[in-house]
Amino acid sequence: MDRMIVRGGKALAGEVEVSGAKNAALPVMTASLLCEGEHRIRRVPVLADVATMARLLGHMGAEVVRGRGRARTELRIRTPAAPRPEAPYELVKTMRASVLALGPLVARLGRARVSLPGGCAIGARPIDQHLKGLAALGAELRLEHGYVEAVLPRHGPGPAPRLRGAHVPFDVVTVTGTENLLMAAALARGTTVLTNAAREPEVEDLARALRGMGARIEGAGTDVVEIEGVDELRPLDHEVVADRIEAGTLMIAGAATRGNVVLRNVVPAHLEALSQKLREAGATVESFSDGGRDCVRVRGGGRLRSVDLRTHPYPGFPTDMQAQTMVLLCLAQGSAVVEETVFENRFMHVLELTRMGADITVSGRTAVVKGVEALSGAPVMATDLRASASLVLAGLLADGETEVQRVYHLDRGYERLERKLRALGADIRRASAS
Ligand code: UD1
Repeated sequence: MDRMIVRGGKALAGEVEVSGAKNAALPVMTASLLCEGEHRIRRVPVLADVATMARLLGHMGAEVVRGRGRARTELRIRTPAAPRPEAPYELVKTMRASVLALGPLVARLGRARVSLPGGCAIGARPIDQHLKGLAALGAELRLEHGYVEAVLPRHGPGPAPRLRGAHVPFDVVTVTGTENLLMAAALARGTTVLTNAAREPEVEDLARALRGMGARIEGAGTDVVEIEGVDELRPLDHEVVADRIEAGTLMIAGAATRGNVVLRNVVPAHLEALSQKLREAGATVESFSDGGRDCVRVRGGGRLRSVDLRTHPYPGFPTDMQAQTMVLLCLAQGSAVVEETVFENRFMHVLELTRMGADITVSGRTAVVKGVEALSGAPVMATDLRASASLVLAGLLADGETEVQRVYHLDRGYERLERKLRALGADIRRASAS
């Protein structure tokens, strides 16, 4: 298993190009199940979860080819006339987002068999809202042998049955749940209205991709989305939106190391919740346009001040940035209250940060972080994707050497993070398993 070796103490400076968003690329890839033909998706990050999704689509009979060289962020997917409507446990267990296959498969083929994702390191994460929504659209659902089986009842011979539009009021704001329903409703008969829908930029990006396929969707990016089903769609031709979590992680690196970092090709509005917190903490965050690309510059001056955080669905402060921001707070002046309201068990980085000298007390979903003068490098172990990013950041700030183990978590969601950090002057290298 690879490890990341980081020596702290460098102020990061320079420019870095942000990749396409993992959490947008994955649903857009599953949208390719909605119609037969040759799909093209650009700005797809090169990372393990995308490879897993490609394997999943391959299992269903699709051919997924990544471009080479300069075209390496382009995916071409050839979807067959009759994909095999099954997502097996072996793939779903390594990546929850596999559940995104459910909506498109039922909508297109009238049936699907998708493994239940099961428990996850960051909480129970049920999919009841996905199932409730699909049931409202007419799917019959059964849970058997660890799988969700969805079938559309047939009424006599004739063309394949179709979902029918309905009102779907979500009880909780769910990102992939909203995405599953968007895709299912795109091919349903009649109009679907999703209320209390997730407003995340990745949902909006999927809606943009679906509209490019001929879907009729209004309101994506707000909490009420209306979808008028169409009879058929055409193949995808889409460029994935910038990864606001990768950008945010690098912004923290710039601010916390008292550096001067420019993130190129981002959507500054998507970074607003974090930018505001960084400004409150004393960093400078500015957006500007350069050569037609939107950029954000982050500068950290002296020691930053503590700021309280509360995670919330978009446009609130992203849960996917909580662990990384906590690292900055570990060395800030004063103490901060960090409240995690989206997931119930997302403080697993705390124990490792404490081993590096951080002063953090957790009680339920709240952590109190008291700023300390210094962190000290140590061997640490990543437990999930964003937690592993936080440990790399802690390594950049700590005295001496930090060895982050289980880097496969990081590789699930960041494209060559160490190369991007090295381009900014960080002392970081990957040590391959011997
Ligand atoms: C997505 C993101 C993940 C991010 C999360 C929250 C992808 C591939 N992953 O995950 O990186 O951390 O949004 O921004 O886009 N819930 C239910 N019932 C459901 C669905 C969700 O109770 O049917 C609960 C979850 O347990 C959680 C909350 O709702 O507490 C939010 O989860 P959700 O938005 O669904 O997260 P994901 O879509 O899995």
